[in-house]
Amino acid sequence: MSLNFRVQLYCLLLVFSALKGEGRYLQENEVTAEGLFSLLNSEVKRELSKDFIYRRPLRCLDMLSMEGQFSFSALRPQLNCAVYLIFEPSEVISVEFSSVDIDCSRGDFLKVFDGWFLKGEMFPSSEDHALPLSERYAEFCDSGVLRRTVRSSQNVAMIFFRIHSPESGFTVTVKKLSNPFPCNIISQTREGRFTMVIPHQHTNCSFSIIYPVEIQIQELTLGRLDSNDTPAKRSAPGCGGAGDFVELLGGNGVDPSKMFPVADLCYSLSGPAQLKVGCDSAVMRLVSSGKFINRVTFQYRPLDRHELQTLKGNHVEDFCFIE
Ligand SMILES: *[C@@H]1O[C@H](CO)[C@@H](O)[C@H](O)[C@H]1NC(C)=O
Repeated sequence: MSLNFRVQLYCLLLVFSALKGEGRYLQENEVTAEGLFSLLNSEVKRELSKDFIYRRPLRCLDMLSMEGQFSFSALRPQLNCAVYLIFEPSEVISVEFSSVDIDCSRGDFLKVFDGWFLKGEMFPSSEDHALPLSERYAEFCDSGVLRRTVRSSQNVAMIFFRIHSPESGFTVTVKKLSNPFPCNIISQTREGRFTMVIPHQHTNCSFSIIYPVEIQIQELTLGRLDSNDTPAKRSAPGCGGAGDFVELLGGNGVDPSKMFPVADLCYSLSGPAQLKVGCDSAVMRLVSSGKFINRVTFQYRPLDRHELQTLKGNHVEDFCFIE
């Protein structure tokens, strides 16, 4: 994907809902996907030479998609700050703090969350994350995360902080690490192609696209093709009863467990199948019993305004529009 496209894309979308409620944690506030990605405008992606460390100051609400060293210094009390990190699907993120000057006894905090909070919802959902919720936070004030590197489980993570005294601040070094079997991904882009593989693991993985899109499933393999032990027995409507299936979800938040099923596929498929999902976000979720190697390949592209209008025209409900 070209840089131009990315920049254009994010320029198009930009309503940034104001952060409200000084005393509340930012995760309860309304930050929209559009607002968020607009922050990436200033993040010019480029190939950097190996020894060059990209450095820039952090803003109270910020988004990072590249490695580097980022410093925050409060000019005034900053009580509700959040930095969203997003890397490529096959990458996880490591975060390390240095020169932390905050006053924990005064209520300052600095923490890393293994995932994202957006519109009050969390990604990955508790159901799909390997760790219990409490273990997805690393808090500087509790444990001095200063001394260790925090590593995310997927391509997104975030940093929350609150700083009362002007001049206080911290520096954070962000690096990417490769992840051979990515599970739970938020797409950085509105179009792309992805293959999700779950090799013999009793786990569920979600690929989330936080835009209205058309998704085309190109290939779906559930279970071993050389076995009679077919994974999908349609014992109930949808894929109820099947231990291995793919579900396409649509919704207006980011938590897949709160989204609505658009389609369930419990049979292997080799031809393309496509669907338009006119919701704020769409998720491809692969449910895996652990008995098989499951694999799904799909591509997606954004719906244009005309397509969205057409979808809306065909339906009365104002939730999301699916075709
Ligand atoms: C995966 O999802 C299915 C259906 O949503 C659920 O029944 C199952 O418990 C989940 N598996 C794991 C390991 O969370």
